[in-house]
Order: sequence, then C-alpha cells, then structure tokens
Amino acid sequence: MKQAVKIKENIYWIGVNDRRTHLFENYWPLPKGVAYNSYLIVDEKVVVVDTIERGKMDNYVERIASLLNGRAVDYVIINHMEPDHSGALKSLVHRYPGVTIIGNAKTFPILRNFYDINDHLMEVKEGTTLDIGQHKLVFHMAPMLHWPETMVTFEATEGILFSGDIFGAFGALDGGIFDDEVDLDYLEEEVSRYYSNIVGKYGQPAQIALKKLGQLPIRMICATHGPIRRSSIDDIIAKYDTWSKYETRKGVVIAFSSMYGNTELAADAIARALAEKGIRKIRVHDTSKTHPSYIINDIFRFKGVILGSCAYNSGIFPTMETLLFELEQAAVKNHLLACFGGKSWSGGAIQRFDRFAENIKWEIVHPSHEMWGAPKEEDYEACRKIAHAMADKLNALYPDAP
Ligand code: FEO
Repeated sequence: MKQAVKIKENIYWIGVNDRRTHLFENYWPLPKGVAYNSYLIVDEKVVVVDTIERGKMDNYVERIASLLNGRAVDYVIINHMEPDHSGALKSLVHRYPGVTIIGNAKTFPILRNFYDINDHLMEVKEGTTLDIGQHKLVFHMAPMLHWPETMVTFEATEGILFSGDIFGAFGALDGGIFDDEVDLDYLEEEVSRYYSNIVGKYGQPAQIALKKLGQLPIRMICATHGPIRRSSIDDIIAKYDTWSKYETRKGVVIAFSSMYGNTELAADAIARALAEKGIRKIRVHDTSKTHPSYIINDIFRFKGVILGSCAYNSGIFPTMETLLFELEQAAVKNHLLACFGGKSWSGGAIQRFDRFAENIKWEIVHPSHEMWGAPKEEDYEACRKIAHAMADKLNALYPDAP
C-alpha cells in the first residue's frame, strides 16, 4: 500500500508491505510476506514512530512529506534499532536535518555503529514523557524484545501502544490494517511463528514487559509488523503470556532426518503408536523439507518432542543439527523429550542427541534408541516403547485434554 492510513485523528500508518523478500533476517521464510509498520503523529510537533526497512524505502519520505503540507518532522522515535525499522532513518535525517532522534542509553551506540549518526539525539528513560500538543508520549523500556535497546512508546491521550516487535507478526497486510479488517485465522501461524522464532528466546523479559504494560490503559496496539490491534488486544496479550511462560498443550512433535527412509519408518512407527495410545495432536516433520521455524513453532505449542536422525559422516544429519542449534540457542524450555537414531557404517546421531539433552534440560521420558540400518522388529518394539512412555506422561499431565 502506498497511501497512508489514518488510524486516529492526526495519527497515520505509513508502513509498507514486503512480498518480495524470501527470508526475514535472511533466514526466516516469508511465504505470506511481511509488513514494516511505521507511524506518523501530526500535532504541534510532528513525530515519526519507527521507520521501515531500507530495501522498501522507495517513496517513504515523500509519503511523509505529502501529509505534512510543508512542515518538517520534529522527532523520530526509535523503539528498536534493528534495520528493518531503522533502515529509512538516514533518508529521513537527510530530508529533515533538524529532526531529533529519540532513543535510550542503549540505542545510541547502536545508532552510531550502524549509521554514524551522532547529533540531534534525545535520550529518554523509563517513564519519560514527551508532550507534543494534544498527544503525550510516555516511554517504557522493554529490553530484549527483541534487542537490548528495545523500548515502547505509549500515546496516553488515545491509549495507543507503539510496541515495536512485541505483538508483531509475519505476513503482509493484504488490504486490512486493523485486526478486525484482516483474516486473523489466515495469519495465526505467522503470529505465533514470529513470536516463537524472533522473540521466543526472551520469555523472561517478555513476562517482565507484560507485567509493566499490563498497567497501561491500552486501547490500540501498533506493532512494527502485522495488523494493528484494536479488537483483539486481550487475545494477543494472553497469547504472549502463554508463550512466554512456555505453556504447552497435549501433543507431540516428531522431527526426523532421514536420507533413505529408514529413520522415517521409525518416526512413522512412533507416530502410529502415539495415536494408538490416544494422542491426537501429532505433528511429524522432515527436517530436510520443513524450515526449522515451523518445527520450532509447533514445539512452542506441544509438550512432547521426539527427535530422530540418521548418522551423517560420524555425526548427526545437517538439517537436524540446524534444528538442535536453534532450540539450544533459543533455550526453549519445559518439554518432554525422547530421541532415536540410525547408524550405517558409523553412528553419531545419538551422541549429538545426548549432548542436546544435556544442554536443553528437558525431561527425558525414555532412553534413546539406536538402530542399525533398516528398522527390524526389535527396533519397532523400541519405537513403541518410546511412544508409549511419551503418551503415558502426556495422558497423566493432561488427563482431560483430547
Ligand atoms: Fe522487526 Fe527485531 O526487528
């Protein structure tokens, strides 16, 4: 969308859709695109809240100018320095050299290192208020959501929380800007995949931020990605609360890596045995086919995780290694775990799973099983035992869940 969208009197969405970029941060798939949301407040002072990604700047600055009738931008607030939001900053400064850049003590070193911008800086702290006329802007620090310098801006007159990445989502805005204008069901996975992969490492900081933001009379949430929330505020806050506490449902994610199908046979045997024990929510993923962001997203949903991999050059298969690395570095918590592996002329997968189990500290429901070549009857029996141990645990933990 090229036009600005009025979201309240004198407040505009001036963001942009990006359906061309395949990978967010050059890593996370964007099958439904992404929006970089930026906002403009026109009051006695003119304020831009967050900018957009450099590659999509196109006529961004001209769009701002077209709303200002010759006035200049007085302030630009950097809630978050990641370049998908600070990418247009230099152009904005070039067009409006008198603009004051608002950030906090942790913002400006990053600003200098990324853009060599050193002047016209205004440092704010927790609770600092900026009076711009009709609108009063209050700043709250929200470190690690998603970088250390992250803060949010609360517009106290209308009750608008400019929340940065918090409450954001993958997915372009296909016409609708507000939550009640878009198909939230269609975006659901992109909302949770954004949390689980971008913010999910920071559950504890998210809990702290939620408690702080819970004190504010929020009537609208304007994140830097995804739809503006005005009809589903309680819902998205409740989801963040659940996710950041690592609360999960009854169900099992089976992720396997298989070169010639033998490990997949074992994965299918485990899935079948889980179903026979009454587990209904079973998600089986081939790590060679499914990007880890989707597998991790399912792991944030379901309590049980069963991982299987063939050996590969005396180690574990590369795509399983990527998944393990992602889980370890995100320090995902609070799951049940079991592992299985295959060996041919060498082993190696099980040893890597053992290190993973040590690092991640999930509860192990059954010892790992290693099979040699194609699964034999004793391997299928071991698969059944793994599945039954997992199912028994889950059935005990969630006695009333389907
Ligand atoms: Fe949307 Fe952490 O940047």
